[in-house]
Amino acid sequence: MRHFRRVLATALPLLFIIAITGDLFAGPMMMRHGKGPGVHPHSMGFGGKGICPQPRVTAQAPDDIYRLKNPLKPTQKNLDSGKSLFRRDVQPTACKVCHGRTGNGMGMMAPGLNPSPRNFTCGETMKEIPDGQMFWVIKNGSQGTGMPAYPELTENQVWLLVLHLRKLSQ
Ligand code: HEC
Repeated sequence: MRHFRRVLATALPLLFIIAITGDLFAGPMMMRHGKGPGVHPHSMGFGGKGICPQPRVTAQAPDDIYRLKNPLKPTQKNLDSGKSLFRRDVQPTACKVCHGRTGNGMGMMAPGLNPSPRNFTCGETMKEIPDGQMFWVIKNGSQGTGMPAYPELTENQVWLLVLHLRKLSQ
């Protein structure tokens, strides 16, 4: 019994010290992840320009859809609607979660995805992607990648999104 007490007397302070140093290490680590430079406070994603140009092996839309032009005009009202769909309104997963609030392809989930989410701010990559191609990928997703299909969006909503994405590289 006496032996047991001695073990306890040595072990308890040791555990205490381990717990405290653990906290000391966890503090700066959390600050680095949560508030460090490069992290957008509102988007829970990452700032910066993103990868540009971006390697792209996405399947191509059927010809008739590939050639479609956006029927909507880039009025301020339409652009605002597109932006709010992108950042908030589209459910279950808003586009910004992967593509980033600013569209730089570096949203909160981006580090876990290969291929990476498209960087819509990269003119060099975006000039290769016509309106109809974007429309098709948003509706159907990109097979074998993290890009989900959004079959429940109306055609009008998809074109509002395309309008917003196009604007980001101009
Ligand atoms: C869960 C993560 C995720 C979400 C949410 C997401 N995307 Fe993507 N997106 C991706 C990835 C990954 C790619 C790259 C796919 C590829 O390389 O084929 C991509 C690619 C794209 C492309 C490029 C298509 C092309 O031909 O290059 C468009 C356009 C796009 N997404 C639009 C959207 C829109 C609009 C939304 C919201 C309605 C959205 N994405 C939501 C992950 C996501």
